[in-house]
Amino acid sequence: MKIDIVSVFPEYFEVLNLSLLGKAQEKGLVEVTAHNLRDWTHDVHHSVDDTPVGGGAGMVMKPEVWSECLDELLHLEPTTVTCDSTADADDTASADAAESAESATEIAANADTVPATDRPVLIFPNPSAPLFTQQDATELSHANHLLFGCGRYEGYDARIPQYYRAQGVDVREYSIGDYVLNGGEVAVSVMLEAITRLLPGFMGNAASIVEESYTGENALLEHRQYTKPADWRGIKVPDVLLSGDHAKVDRFRRDEALAKTNKLRPDLIEALDCSKLDKADRKTLMALGWEVSGAHPRQR
Ligand code: ADE
Repeated sequence: MKIDIVSVFPEYFEVLNLSLLGKAQEKGLVEVTAHNLRDWTHDVHHSVDDTPVGGGAGMVMKPEVWSECLDELLHLEPTTVTCDSTADADDTASADAAESAESATEIAANADTVPATDRPVLIFPNPSAPLFTQQDATELSHANHLLFGCGRYEGYDARIPQYYRAQGVDVREYSIGDYVLNGGEVAVSVMLEAITRLLPGFMGNAASIVEESYTGENALLEHRQYTKPADWRGIKVPDVLLSGDHAKVDRFRRDEALAKTNKLRPDLIEALDCSKLDKADRKTLMALGWEVSGAHPRQR
């Protein structure tokens, strides 16, 4: 996988040379290049931003600098497109992302069988965009080329994603949470880690990925984990985990995952597909106050 990152603070990404991502780069699984957006400026101040049209606080990143940079990295010739700039503001949520929401569900279900795609994906972190999820990470882990553009200040000119979408590029905008950061760099690091750890050969133990929270078609929060000793400072590991009875251990963990998800993320319970739940799952959910006779659980 080739990953380009464009930022006014490319040094920020030196951290990606550490840890597992550093090893993955050494192994040739990923090739990460951080570019300085200011390298595509022509003025003496290397300015990348300007005041917002229509007034308001802060500065907005200029489209001309971004387009010179992105055209070069995406091997595109500059052109003029016909776009309606008054189009639905939801457009920023990406037609591609909406389209891919469905395929992401399919992909999550067959994560290992999805072929890699040659179409580059251009990703802009943006606090006003849809939330980045494990499904997005799974889907993007099948791309051959990801290009991240880090905004700063009050953000970037809205025509940048609009233009590249009109050019046929798969453009995504994602928020990593309901809070505002100073720029996209942290958000890109988060997305990058979530995506690259799914690459075949990246993690030592692929099974650990399958069991994780948010993974799979019927995603739950993961059960609690313990290691030795069995009694630590008076707190004991649950007996059943020491029983050696794998079926009982699996059931205990599954019930714990259901109970934990019910308490912390009932929205994930509501999204479960009842036809994929076994008898014991249904019993546990009913005891937790859910009706499980329809397509999805409903709170009683
Ligand atoms: N840029 C600033 N805040 C952000 C957020 N929450 N997610 C993605 N990009 C951002």
